[in-house]
Amino acid sequence: MEPAGGPARVGRILITREEIAARVSDLGHAIRRDYVGRSPLLVGVLKGAVVFAADLLRAVALPAGLDFMSVSSYGGGSRSSGVVRLAADLSVSIEGRDVIIVEDIIDTGRTISYLRRNLATRHPRSLALCALLDKVARREVEVPMDYVGFAIPDEFVVGYGLDHDGLHRNLQDIAVMDLSAPG
Ligand code: IMP
Ligand code: MG
Repeated sequence: MEPAGGPARVGRILITREEIAARVSDLGHAIRRDYVGRSPLLVGVLKGAVVFAADLLRAVALPAGLDFMSVSSYGGGSRSSGVVRLAADLSVSIEGRDVIIVEDIIDTGRTISYLRRNLATRHPRSLALCALLDKVARREVEVPMDYVGFAIPDEFVVGYGLDHDGLHRNLQDIAVMDLSAPG
């Protein structure tokens, strides 16, 4: 559902580009440590995780692969409807692969829960989840998270790949969206 109220505006910075870069580097080191001797496949979830996946890939000092898939929840707007549809599939088989799902943000957990179940049926060797942001207070479905960038409060955020109505993905910092700002 689209938020009611005035026009939405980009508000204060929640996480700076320097903080993001440092955390992505940490995550890359953790993944390298856990997957040493293997070639994990990073699966970015379009479109929100594109920026994160590109940086994470370069932070993992392993021969890693990269692929993408796209899911959309019916209804649109700022909040997940909980009904998820596969909009674009992977371009490679993941059978026998060490798959790491790379997601921008876990909110209710419904999208990632659907994705995890979907990918698990394809017999990967292992399946892990790396999420940049975790909106802990909004969780409705329990999701095992292997790597998390930042736990954040229940606010709508944009930037570093995350959008509001398709915009602001190009901001380099992560900012809070002021959904009821007066014009
Ligand atoms: P979930 O299924 O409720 O966990 O929703 C996850 C999806 O909702 C994410 O992949 C985002 O596309 C979107 N989302 C949830 N919270 C935010 C936010 O604060 N900013 C931008 N997108 C969000
Ligand atoms: Mg998304």
